[in-house]
Amino acid sequence: MDNQHPDLRALYAEHLRALQSRADTILQRCGLDHLVIAAGQLHYQFLDDRDYPFCTNPHFKHWLPVTRAPGSWLVVTPGRKPRLVYLQPHDYWHVVPAAPAGYWVEQFDIVVIREAAQARAQLPADATRCAIIGEAGAALDGWVPDNPRAVLDYLHWHRSCKSAYELALMRVASRIGARAHRAAEQAFRAGKSEFDIHLAYLAAARQTDNELPYGNIIALNEHGAILHYTDLAHAPPAQLHSFLIDAGASFHGYASDITRTHAGAGADEFAALVAAVDTAQQGLCSQVRAGQSYPQLHLHAHHVLAEVLREHGFIRCSAQAAVETGVSTAFFPHGLGHPIGAQVHDVAGFQAGEQGGTLARPPGHPYLRMTRVLEPGMVVTIEPGLYFIDLLLEPLRATSAGKDVDWARVDAFRRYGGIRIEDDVVCTSGEPDNLTRAAFAQLD
Ligand code: GLY
Ligand code: MN
Ligand code: MN
Repeated sequence: MDNQHPDLRALYAEHLRALQSRADTILQRCGLDHLVIAAGQLHYQFLDDRDYPFCTNPHFKHWLPVTRAPGSWLVVTPGRKPRLVYLQPHDYWHVVPAAPAGYWVEQFDIVVIREAAQARAQLPADATRCAIIGEAGAALDGWVPDNPRAVLDYLHWHRSCKSAYELALMRVASRIGARAHRAAEQAFRAGKSEFDIHLAYLAAARQTDNELPYGNIIALNEHGAILHYTDLAHAPPAQLHSFLIDAGASFHGYASDITRTHAGAGADEFAALVAAVDTAQQGLCSQVRAGQSYPQLHLHAHHVLAEVLREHGFIRCSAQAAVETGVSTAFFPHGLGHPIGAQVHDVAGFQAGEQGGTLARPPGHPYLRMTRVLEPGMVVTIEPGLYFIDLLLEPLRATSAGKDVDWARVDAFRRYGGIRIEDDVVCTSGEPDNLTRAAFAQLD
């Protein structure tokens, strides 16, 4: 990969300097000597020797592009080169993590160990002088992750603003996702089943399910109304009305999260609604700017989408009235989006400051995942949607607000399931940088 991304070396060095400086600051504030991060360990199925897919500690992959080294540890000490304790077991049953290689290795003192327990001797002697970040199961004899709240709050807060290195990785993840989305759309147009569309996606991404940042949502027709539809029907439906695909890709532990909705051949009214949501979505993306309150943008999205519902004949009242009576929520029942980075739903979406605290969601919006004011370097998804979900629409039918809904039109659209359009957008000090649209544009 280095050959394809020759600039990563310099960007990475700069990224690491920033992390080192943050570690120095918070260790000093907390009166500690070392930041120690466990990569994590394999988890096994109950009463079985089969392990679940390994998922590394996001703090670990924030420091280095190593996502498959269970049992490894990182030790950060002010004034010293960070130390990587790298578990490379003698094991003829499994693939052993590759020998450290690439643009990042020169930044670390690397100690290779052959058994997980050998890590203890390579970690600082006095655990009470350390902030130890990791899951409980990573504990070694007498050495237990304590995840100090003050340290986590500080690191999470600063993780919200991505370095140029992280953005470079996310650009690659976006390009992989866009390429695979194109292949999936072609499979849909060719009449393939959800299962076969999924396989087409994986093949184009060159990633397995376990490598993807989250389980693909591949929804034909009314399946689009199930927000987290992760089944995969093996047979195509008799008629293809619509295709909603929410699928991302990973690169060096960083994620893209992309949703597109396609109308089937001849579904012209649905295609027009998709186009309207797309226009609305791009308008929302253009407001990813420093100083913009994300919850305000979410509330604004309700007004914009209610206007789409009105223009397309689903409601007879004003957009304002539809928002006030909760009609917009029945059609748009999730949040506008979330922070994204080393985790698809990245940390600190609700954090009030570097010392923690919580910014509450606006009342009536329990699924919003981001309540902060946007700052340069933050990356957020913008993913408005409109759905035809019986469970939400049926109760509305019985209310006075339900009289403002054209139920015959709603019924005619149930077969399309729903629409979501999702991009990953960087807030800068100027124009927003839409990673997803740029990635699709590069394919053209
Ligand atoms: N794919 C998960 C989400 O959009 O948040
Ligand atoms: Mn998302
Ligand atoms: Mn998504």
